[in-house]
Amino acid sequence: MLILGIETSCDETSASIVKDGEYILSNVVSSSLEYHKKFGGVVPEIATRHHVENIDKVINRSLYNAGLKIKDIDAVAVTDGPGLMGALLTGISCAKAMSYYLNKPLIAVDHLRAHIYSAIMIKDAPRFPFIGLVISGGHTRLYLIEDFDRFELLGDTVDDAAGEAYDKVAKILGLGYPGGPVIDTLAKKGNPDAIRFTCRAINGTLDFSFSGIKTAVLYYVKNERRMTNDERRNIAASFQESVLRVIVENSIKAMEKYKIKSFAVGGGVSANSRFREMMQREARYKDFKLYFPPLGLCSDNAAMIAGLGYRLYKKGIKASLDITARV
Ligand code: KG4
Ligand code: ZN
Repeated sequence: MLILGIETSCDETSASIVKDGEYILSNVVSSSLEYHKKFGGVVPEIATRHHVENIDKVINRSLYNAGLKIKDIDAVAVTDGPGLMGALLTGISCAKAMSYYLNKPLIAVDHLRAHIYSAIMIKDAPRFPFIGLVISGGHTRLYLIEDFDRFELLGDTVDDAAGEAYDKVAKILGLGYPGGPVIDTLAKKGNPDAIRFTCRAINGTLDFSFSGIKTAVLYYVKNERRMTNDERRNIAASFQESVLRVIVENSIKAMEKYKIKSFAVGGGVSANSRFREMMQREARYKDFKLYFPPLGLCSDNAAMIAGLGYRLYKKGIKASLDITARV
């Protein structure tokens, strides 16, 4: 079964064709990142305009790359949230029109669940139930996943998301936007024990809080008269180590609490090299199975939408033409 996936929740306009929820025939991503950089974050109006101007080209390109014609598509899956209102509406409107025109089913897919699906879009996927984590620019969430349509929220951030903390700290350090990849690289050359930035889990829960550590970095930098490159590297490494330690700790706690031995993670921050190292060490030590997306599927893409869309369709879950964006 061939599903066309459409993703426009933030700054990536993406379309993908996936066969049977598993085989990616094409995955085209056009990002408006360049236009947001000078503002230090995503500007919703710019993102929406980019989607409107590019969605048809991206869909045509994904059909072309897959060697298919539009009439070959069996269903259309689209991200219905969470994300930016105008951005989501562009993809949803386009998907609805295509579904109506082609007379093929429409499937609404949750962006966060799809991020986790990108880690298990493989042959020997984990059996249910397993623990899933999304660490992206907008969300940090732990789930107990019992089926493709049964996600129980176990933990969430009470303030900033993990990726947001990376982006804000990068801004404080004058490293530009987005912050995650730069801090990832810089931290490799820094000493993670150089500065004590505390970042703790919220007692008795599986929730997260990342705004305190961002403020701690801000004050630390303010009190420094001149920041050397060495110091910048040490700040990046110390900040990253604290943030990732809490994410790893909560993830392990969730697995222990529910006696689960499989863990899947997705979202932009799941590309982080130190995070992968830390989780792999824990997986060996605690003997659990770890599922990461390939690096190309960590950030926003439509392959994960088409993939999870197929699983939902197989469960008989379809959307009607009156769906709208869930911001
Ligand atoms: O999943 P994503 O592409 O978009 C959202 O749905 O938010 O995630 C983007 C976030 C940004 O905050 C970015 O700084 C972060 O992922 N990110 C990283 C890395 N690559 C991207 N954070 C840490 N380490 C990375 N290597
Ligand atoms: Zn995302």
